Amino acid sequence: MAGQIPQRFIDDLLARVDVVEVVGERVKLKKAGRNHSGLCPFHQEKSPSFTVSADKQFYHCFGCGAHGNALRFLMEYENLRFPEAVEQLAARLGMEVPREGADDPRAQARERKRKEGVNLLELSASFYRERLKMPEAEAARRYLAERGLSPEMQQAFAIGYAPAGWDVLKRHLLERGVADAVQIEYGLLVHHEDSGRTYDRFRDRVMFPIRDIRGRTIAFGGRVLGDAKPKYLNSPETPVFHKGRELYGLYEARQANPRLERLVIVEGYMDVVALAQFGIRNAVATLGTSTSDEHLGRLFRMVGEVVFCFDGDRAGRQAAARALETVLPQMIDGRQARFMFLPEGEDPDTLVRREGAEAFEDRITCASPLSEFLFDHAAEGRDLGSIEARERFASQVLSAIGKLPEGVLKSLLLTELSRRTGVDQTHFEALLSREVAEASPPDMSPASAEPMPPSSGERPSEAGRGQASLGRMARALQLLVHEPGLVERLPEDDDWCDQSDPEAGLCREVVRLLRAGGYRSAQVLLAHFHGTPEGERLAALARQEPLVPRGLRGAELDNWVAYFQRHRRQQSPQEEYDALLARMQAGERLSQEQRQRLGELLTELKG
Ligand code: UTP
Ligand code: MN
Repeated sequence: MAGQIPQRFIDDLLARVDVVEVVGERVKLKKAGRNHSGLCPFHQEKSPSFTVSADKQFYHCFGCGAHGNALRFLMEYENLRFPEAVEQLAARLGMEVPREGADDPRAQARERKRKEGVNLLELSASFYRERLKMPEAEAARRYLAERGLSPEMQQAFAIGYAPAGWDVLKRHLLERGVADAVQIEYGLLVHHEDSGRTYDRFRDRVMFPIRDIRGRTIAFGGRVLGDAKPKYLNSPETPVFHKGRELYGLYEARQANPRLERLVIVEGYMDVVALAQFGIRNAVATLGTSTSDEHLGRLFRMVGEVVFCFDGDRAGRQAAARALETVLPQMIDGRQARFMFLPEGEDPDTLVRREGAEAFEDRITCASPLSEFLFDHAAEGRDLGSIEARERFASQVLSAIGKLPEGVLKSLLLTELSRRTGVDQTHFEALLSREVAEASPPDMSPASAEPMPPSSGERPSEAGRGQASLGRMARALQLLVHEPGLVERLPEDDDWCDQSDPEAGLCREVVRLLRAGGYRSAQVLLAHFHGTPEGERLAALARQEPLVPRGLRGAELDNWVAYFQRHRRQQSPQEEYDALLARMQAGERLSQEQRQRLGELLTELKG
């Protein structure tokens, strides 16, 4: 990764750029008094509730609450990461973005590689799209028409056609200076070991570009026009494509609605496109694999609810059981997972065309909550009239519950299990904590810069109980203390930290320190606060194991932040003023937005 961008550069940049101009290039604005107004690009609306203020260099939507400065706007509108938005703004002012710290040459090489691959894949995607318009693609166009894919959807999903020859794409790319070796590396060209020949991987197929979250083509899926095998051919793993991580349709779903709350996971390319055509624009598909925890991690970072959609047959039930196993460890409070099963012989594509969008939406609405599916699945094929069957039912449910992170869902499921079996809940709890204690200690790898191990005698189950009483903000703080590197995924402005929670101040302080100092070790953090009450508080949090596998902590933190953002404290102007002033007096560098807000508040309070 390139080094951090210095804060003064960002301040400087924001001081020079005009938010009205940046927004105005993308949204039709009308001058209205001192401000500009227009239709909000972040939600559907008929009358304008979106305003941009040149004085404050700020946009705000009274409809959906979207707000921020020019950088935030670019990030949201163009799906950019913070550094990318900075680069883009800087570029228009002809400024070069400085970076702090030594650059890691390996990261630079990786980045070069990524760019090279993406360009080549982008070239190929437009090639396929162009070819779909040509006479040779007559059969492909007929095929798409027969399958009922509207021209709009073909465009929205950038569908194309790979011509039938052995080297049409290869020659096209060679002419543009892309060497064979690179084409092979990115999966477009196949190298035949024995003959030493190369040929286009995708021939005479309808092409579905797979795009990353920012819309860059990273791979392809190609479907035959008839019944030949394989029906779908996908790009192999390449430097930019890992199928266990990517989801088809995610970019398109976000394009259609940047404020998604729910995503539906289906099986196939055609399912995603057909649903979109019927107005159900939040479906994504895994790429011929089952849903991985990486998939789920990404989805839950974007939405609070995921609905799995399966065929009603045996294979579908099995796939659902696998999905259940994968999703359990991710079910921290605030997330929802549901399961839906289609009638046998149908997939979302056929069903939505037969029943229509509304009926399909109803199916989504009626999908079983995780808890229901969990109990149903465990009861399947068992006669719960018999004690033995009930015992096996209970152990199956219990082992699933054991995979859940601590939280309300876990307690509720235990209560429900006890209700269904007539066995006292404490008995199940005892069984569970025995299992936990017997299992290997929860992730304490030496690389984790753990300041202190949990004090001896503090068994995981006890730590778990302590955890239940941790406040929300304390939990976020705890995650940060255990893994300071997580600070990188926090939003740039720390407004989410504006909570009445007693830990909010400390949390903000920690975030600021981690950012300013670039610290990535808990020890340094604790050392900074050593000898203060805050230091003691942080040390206490550090001693408790977070009890969530390392790989999931980031996702959990994202989720808390989203929660806090939804529940930002409604402050009175006086309170807001006092809080900002206190932060400034404590030596904190306020953002331009915040300074302006301070000025406004002052006028408001004095006036
Ligand atoms: P299905 O066989 O269920 O096909 O594969 P489908 O999606 O209904 O396709 P249509 O409607 O006949 O066009 C589901 C998904 O499994 C992967 C693809 O991602 C496909 O969308 N798959 C399937 C492959 O990767 N290769 C194959 O040969 C078949
Ligand atoms: Mn199908």
